[in-house]
Amino acid sequence: MTPLNPSPERHDLLAASTAETTPLAVASVASRAKPGKSRWPARLDLLQSLSGLLLALFLMAHMAFVSSILISHDAFYTVARFFEGAYFLGKPYPILVSGVVAGVLALFVGHAWLALRKFPAGFRQYRAFVAHKNRLRHGDTSMWWLQVWTGFALFFMATIHLYQMLMNPSLIGPYESADRVWTGNLWPLYLLLLFAAELHASIGLYRLALKWGWFDASDPNRSRRRLRWVKHGLSAFFITLGLVTLGAYIDLGRAHAEHAGERYVPASQSAPAASGRH
Ligand code: HEM
Repeated sequence: MTPLNPSPERHDLLAASTAETTPLAVASVASRAKPGKSRWPARLDLLQSLSGLLLALFLMAHMAFVSSILISHDAFYTVARFFEGAYFLGKPYPILVSGVVAGVLALFVGHAWLALRKFPAGFRQYRAFVAHKNRLRHGDTSMWWLQVWTGFALFFMATIHLYQMLMNPSLIGPYESADRVWTGNLWPLYLLLLFAAELHASIGLYRLALKWGWFDASDPNRSRRRLRWVKHGLSAFFITLGLVTLGAYIDLGRAHAEHAGERYVPASQSAPAASGRH
């Protein structure tokens, strides 16, 4: 499959000529002197596409699990215990959640490392790209720029969240999560993370579809328009779902603030003496 690649990645051709005295630039000039010798740029591009696709699919599934709090406290409690293996291993093993988080973290770091190749390197490249973007006024080029910035923000914000999940896998549940969101003051981070992650992922999926020619129509302009609608639809759906879900955690966290730290026990499991306490 030939990548259509309308991509602003080509903008690294705008590289400033004065930078070519650094060792990195010398190495890059040397490799450019033998065109077609290395398959690595293509392999790295494929790896970046694959890791991005997996992360975007993970994010959709993650939103579905986290928003189960909108169904009921018990629904979210059941999802959390399911990922700890409680329903097939006899008791919950939170280390299983840490294992999944470690996998997602590795994928995330790998994807970020691959993406670094596309960031403008230095002020001259940055200025050249911004001037180019402003002159071109093309929706896809502006979206790529938004993806660079949301990706940069994710370096920091997603890492905080992932580290917390890695280290406290047993503290996932209706009260535990709501206490973290409200009493633990995580809601501002989640609010920003939600916008950054959903915009980044939906732009990424749009660009993947365009680049690899998925869902191509006979008329390229029509297929681009169609993909753009799907992209906007995905962003709107997941941001709305995320905001409503975050609102539910905030409400529950505020209501539970006096008892912050207390674990959630479903009514069906609480001892008769304790029942009625929650
Ligand atoms: C395996 C890895 C992950 C696990 C186990 C996990 C788990 C959770 C849980 C349990 C919550 C509910 C709040 C809480 O308990 O603190 C949450 C919220 C959230 N997570 Fe994750 N998460 C993971 C990865 C990610 C990644 C990679 C992103 C984005 C890059 C992300 C973005 C969010 C956002 C934005 C919220 C707030 C939800 C909302 O706005 O409705 N999470 N996550």
